Amino acid sequence: MGALSEARRIGVLISGRGSNLRALIEAAGRPSYPAEIVLVISNRPDAAGLGFAREAGIAARVIDHKAFADRPAFERAMTAALEKADAELVCNAGFRRLLTATFVERWRDRQLNIHPSLLPAYKGLHSHERVIADGTRISGCTVHFVREEMDSGPIVAQAAVAVEPSDTAGTLAARVLEVEHRLYPHALDLVASGRAWVEGERTVFARSTGAAAPLFSPELE
Ligand code: GRF
Repeated sequence: MGALSEARRIGVLISGRGSNLRALIEAAGRPSYPAEIVLVISNRPDAAGLGFAREAGIAARVIDHKAFADRPAFERAMTAALEKADAELVCNAGFRRLLTATFVERWRDRQLNIHPSLLPAYKGLHSHERVIADGTRISGCTVHFVREEMDSGPIVAQAAVAVEPSDTAGTLAARVLEVEHRLYPHALDLVASGRAWVEGERTVFARSTGAAAPLFSPELE
């Protein structure tokens, strides 16, 4: 895991299933990957994702928000655990707690989140339901630096998928999730290796990021 001596030390925050955590763990297992996961924190004791961390031999801690008097106290416990693990970057991966300005500032430009829509469209919960209800033809996912306002902050990377006429929120969520599992490791690679960083509330890149073919939905005939 993160065989490079200069690999960035990553803490991952989860609340549930942990499939994005699993994708990051797999990526960090590649010898040339520029990041290693040193700590996984779940605010829920029953989060399935804790199992992925433990199977991989990664330190996993439950910091249950319900055990703290208020949000700042909960967040102080998370920052203390991250600091003890010498974490340099934090990845939110299905972490379902709002964060205060204090926590966001502590990890400013060093905290990433993944959201299942093409931000800034469809912030918040139930993005797939709203995409279907609107008849949107293309959706996807976004990795961005965390700011106090939910699902905002400089965008690092996005991936698009076509929405099928037959899609339900469930089938669309599954298709987007597969892409999330490729996008998050890619975005973390860019940030951890120093090839992407924040300047003036935008992410800037060390070099051209390449342009794939356009996605048409419905497809051109
Ligand atoms: C993902 O869809 C992610 O984009 C969103 O919450 C979900 C977490 O899934 N923020 P998992 O816990 O990584 O499987």
